[in-house]
Amino acid sequence: MKNVLVIGAGTMGHGIAEVCAIAGYNVTIVDIKDEFLEKAVKKIGWSLKKLESKKKIKENAEDVLKRIKTTTNLEEAAKEADFVIEAVIEDTDVKKDIFKRLDENCKEGVIFSTNTSTIPITDISSATRRPESVIGLHFFNPPTLIKLVEIIRGERTSDETVEKTKEFAKTIGMDYVLVEKDVPGFLVNRINLRVFTEAIRMVEEGFKPEEIDSAVKYRLGLPMGILEVVDFSGVDIVFYVTHEMMKRGVNVKPSKLVEEMIKEGRLGMKSGRGFYEHKGVYHRVKIPRNLAYRVNPVRILAPAINEASWLLRNGIATREDIDKAMVLGMGYPKGLLEMADDFGIDMVVETLEARAKETGLDEYSPDPLLVEMVEAKKLGKKSGEGFYTWNYEQVDFGPVRYEKRHNYALITMRRPDKLNSLNEEMWTGLNQAFKKAEEDKDVRAVLITGEGKAFCAGDDISVMGSWKKFTDGRDFFEKVALPLVATLMEYTKPTISLVNGYAFGGGMELNLLFDIVIASEKASFAVPEGLIGAMPPIASTIGVAMLGRKFIKYCLTGDQLDPEEAEELGFVDVVVPHDQLEMAGIEYVEKVSRLAPLSVKAIKESVNAVRKTFTEALELSKREIVMLIPTSDFAEGMMAFVKKKRPVWKGY
Ligand code: NAI
Repeated sequence: MKNVLVIGAGTMGHGIAEVCAIAGYNVTIVDIKDEFLEKAVKKIGWSLKKLESKKKIKENAEDVLKRIKTTTNLEEAAKEADFVIEAVIEDTDVKKDIFKRLDENCKEGVIFSTNTSTIPITDISSATRRPESVIGLHFFNPPTLIKLVEIIRGERTSDETVEKTKEFAKTIGMDYVLVEKDVPGFLVNRINLRVFTEAIRMVEEGFKPEEIDSAVKYRLGLPMGILEVVDFSGVDIVFYVTHEMMKRGVNVKPSKLVEEMIKEGRLGMKSGRGFYEHKGVYHRVKIPRNLAYRVNPVRILAPAINEASWLLRNGIATREDIDKAMVLGMGYPKGLLEMADDFGIDMVVETLEARAKETGLDEYSPDPLLVEMVEAKKLGKKSGEGFYTWNYEQVDFGPVRYEKRHNYALITMRRPDKLNSLNEEMWTGLNQAFKKAEEDKDVRAVLITGEGKAFCAGDDISVMGSWKKFTDGRDFFEKVALPLVATLMEYTKPTISLVNGYAFGGGMELNLLFDIVIASEKASFAVPEGLIGAMPPIASTIGVAMLGRKFIKYCLTGDQLDPEEAEELGFVDVVVPHDQLEMAGIEYVEKVSRLAPLSVKAIKESVNAVRKTFTEALELSKREIVMLIPTSDFAEGMMAFVKKKRPVWKGY
C-alpha cells in the first residue's frame, strides 16, 4: 500500500493528508477548485516547517511535501489509489456522489473510508457496489496533534476491511478505537454530546461558565473547561451536531440558550463571543481556581457515564476503548469509566435519578447496566469492582474501619452514636489502621473521616470521668493515646482528613497532625478542653506553633470555629459542600499521587521533623494535663459536663 487518496482539502483533509505523508505514503489530495488545493498545500508546508523546527518529524519538511500531489480530477486520482479517505463537506448527496465515482474508478480491494461525523456509514456505502469495503475513519481536529481515530463498522463492512483499516491507522501513527455499530455520534461525539448538554444546562440554571469549567479543569483535570471547548468548536457546530443526532433518534432535549446565542451571533471563539469573551482566535480564557467547588463534577459527567454504559451494554465499544477514546481524543487525564469507578456507581445513579426528577427528562434514566451494577454492589473502587476490578481490602479494627481502595486507604471512625469520641478501642483502632496503610505498598495516601454527624468529638468523657488519680490519666495517655500520636509524627504517607462534622477537642487536635484538611460546610471545630477542667495538649503546642498567635484565643476560650474561619486561620485547606467531601478527598489523592513516591516520603520526613521540634513542648503539656486529672476543677468539669451545667471552679 503506497498511495493514499484524500478527498477534500479543508480543515480536516489537509491535516489528514499531512499525517499520511509524514508516515511515508504518497498522497493525492482532491478538491473542486485549485485555489482550495493551493491553500491546503500552503498550510501543510507551514505546519511541516513547524514540526521540523520542533524536531517532531524525521525528514525535512520539503521531502515530506514532495510526496503530496493535488488535483481536481477525482477519476484519475482514484485509479492510482490504494486507500481512500474522504473528508469533503458534511453533505450526504455530495459524499454519495463521490463514493459512486470511487466505485467506478478504484481498483479491487481498495478501502473507502469516510471521515463523516454524523452521516451513517451504511448510507454512504449504499452508493457503491462494494459496501463491504466502506468504513468510517473518524479523525479529530487537528489530526497532526490528536493521535486517535475512531474506526466505525457500517452494517455491511467486512472484517477484512476492519482489519486492514486498523493496520493502516497504525502505519500513520494513530491509535484507534473500534466502534462496532454505526450509531449516531459514534463514540466520542456521543459522549461529548452529554457532557456539553449538561454543562450548557447548568449555565441555563444560573451557574457561571467559569464555575463549571473551574471544577472541570482543576478537579477533574481536563485540559480545557467544557464551555471553553464548546466555544472553541463553535456553538453553531454543537447545535448542528445535537440536531443531527436527534434526527437519528438520540434522546436529547436541545438547549434554548444555544439557539439564542446563535441568533445573537455568539458562536464562540470564531465570533469573539460565546460562553466567554475572546480577544482574538486562540485566546485562552482565564478560569479562576477558587470557583472549583461551586459545582459537583459528578453532575457534569454522570450523563456521559450513562451514555458510555449504553455503548458498553449494546456491544458498540469495549470499556477499554471508551476510556482510551476520551483520554486520547479529549485529553481526559484518565478514562471516563475509571472516573465513574472513582466517583462510585451508586453516586452516578443517584445523580442521574435526581436529575431525571428535577427535569422530568427520561434522557437521564440510568442505564440498566448501571442499575444492575449498583444492585450487585459493583460500586467502583469503594467496593473493589465497578467497570474494572480494583485492589480492595476491608478490615475492622474495633470501631475503626480500614478500607484499601486500590491506591488509597480510607479510615472511618464508626461510633456515630458516641460522636466518634476517642475511647481506648478508637485510639488503638486508629493506630492499627494507620499502621496498616503505612505498610501497604499500593496505598499512596490515607483519607480519614467519621461516620454520622461528627468527625470526632474528642476524648470520651465517660473514660475521662473514670480517672481518679493522675496515674489513671497518665497510663491512658502513654499506653493508649500517645502511640497514635507517635505513629502520625513518623508517618511517611500523606494523610488527608475529611472533616464531615464536629471536630472537637482531641478530634480537632488530631487534624493538626494530618497533612491536608478538607472540611465539609457542616464541619465545626473547637478545643474546649479547658471548659471541662482539662487542656488541649496538641493544640496549645503544635497548634499554636503552626497556626500562630491567633490560635491561642481558641485554646483559652474554647470558642468554636466554623469551617470558613478555620480556613482563614490556615487550619483547614479547603471547604467543600457536604456531598462533595469524599470526592474532594479522592481528588487530593490523585494530586499527591502525581508526585514521585520517594519525593513524597522525603517531604513527609521533613514535615515530621518540623512537627517533632515541638516534642519538648508536647511533653510538657502532657505532664500538665496529667496533673490536672486529680484536681477538683477536673472533677467539677466532668460532673458539670455530664449534667449539662455550668461548672463552678475552685482552682488556684
Ligand atoms: P471543510 O469545509 O473545511 O472542508 C471540506 C472540503 O471539501 C472543502 O475544501 C470543499 O471545497 C471540499 N469539497 C466539497 N465538495 C467536494 C467534492 N465534490 N469533491 C472534492 N472536494 C469537495 O470541512 P471539514 O471541517 O474539513 O470537514 C470535512 C469532513 O470531516 C466532514 O465530513 C466533517 O463532518 C468531518 N469532520 C470534521 C471535523 C472538524 O473538526 N472540522 C472533525 C472530524 C470530522
